[in-house]
Amino acid sequence: MTKRCRLGVLVSGNGSNLQAILDACGAKDFPAQVQLVISNKAEAFALERARKKGVAASVVSHRDFPSRESFEDRLIAALEDAKVDLVILAGFMRVLSPRFVRHFAGRILNVHPALLPSFPGTHAIEQAWNYGVRVTGVTVHVVDEGTDTGPIILQEPVVLDAKETLESLEEKIHSVEHRLFPEAIRLFAEGRLKFEGRRAHIGEHA
Ligand code: GRF
Repeated sequence: MTKRCRLGVLVSGNGSNLQAILDACGAKDFPAQVQLVISNKAEAFALERARKKGVAASVVSHRDFPSRESFEDRLIAALEDAKVDLVILAGFMRVLSPRFVRHFAGRILNVHPALLPSFPGTHAIEQAWNYGVRVTGVTVHVVDEGTDTGPIILQEPVVLDAKETLESLEEKIHSVEHRLFPEAIRLFAEGRLKFEGRRAHIGEHA
């Protein structure tokens, strides 16, 4: 296998998506590896998940910085020091500035628990549930300067059944996320994504 894609993962909480990515990276043929995990919250369980796998994990709290710019400068420095090729937002609960996004242009991926452009922002699962949708889903997209507006890489629908509850829907969505996010990372790492405007074309594996 050629050189593995180096991932820097930003988290804020539980880290179940981080776990799915770490597990995927454990497979011999997976073309990426997690170089470091950064949480803006010291209590994030995601940090423990990373350390358990022997991955460098640190806390960079936005509260310790006088401005968003200085907070992001620290993130950028840590990601650059680790020579990451791709930045992964796995439940990272801070909005990134256009400056940060431009620094890693086209190299930041996010997972969103709805079929974008429906229900952007936080609480997407609950909002879709309250709206009474019959179908919702998961989106993995490239991060641009807007909120959940970047070009879509993969989407998968989740159909609500008659006995669905908010809790069961959350479970279904998370299990799709845990499959779809590593799949999108694989496509990126294998150089199979080509963008034409907003549209992602997925090429054959070389
Ligand atoms: C996921 O539902 C993801 O779609 C959203 O934040 C949640 C993070 O969950 N962006 P976890 O920390 O990966 O468990």
